[in-house]
Amino acid sequence: MAGLLHSLAHIEFNALNLALDAIWRFANMPKQYYEDWLTVAKEEAYHFSLIGEYLQVLGFSYGDFTAHNSLWEMVERTTDSVMARMALVTRTMEARGLDAVPMIRDRFKQIKDDRAVEILEIILRDEISHVRIGNHWFNFLCAQENIFPITAYRELARKYRAPVFKAPI
Ligand SMILES: [Fe+2]
Ligand SMILES: [Fe+2]
Repeated sequence: MAGLLHSLAHIEFNALNLALDAIWRFANMPKQYYEDWLTVAKEEAYHFSLIGEYLQVLGFSYGDFTAHNSLWEMVERTTDSVMARMALVTRTMEARGLDAVPMIRDRFKQIKDDRAVEILEIILRDEISHVRIGNHWFNFLCAQENIFPITAYRELARKYRAPVFKAPI
């Protein structure tokens, strides 16, 4: 259980850094883009501290377990394109993470871990808006270049070797 919470903490940690990287790395976007990602960064920091504090209550700390790094690998793969970043990190990796939250929450519900359920409800609420933000800026960039988002997504997924997830997506 602590290992599962720890892997979520690591995802939040990466999500915090990826939100700040989206601000720092990509110039010439509208002001709202930077404000949106700053809001995301603030919420990811909040999520990270919620899980981190709860891990402490359970007698563990962030860093006690190994964690997979697939989210950050996709961040590194998309350093040259803000459109690819929005498409593949936010609309793919984060969106997939969002899909997984209700399932994980229900597992904690089964073992009557009310605090974990509470934290996951907060994360679920906020992550919906994060994916919405990524979606908004992806569509904005497609419109700017006059390309169809569905075709653009397919091409970016192939070019940047995005993971292929099982349906339903
Ligand atoms: Fe988060
Ligand atoms: Fe997020």
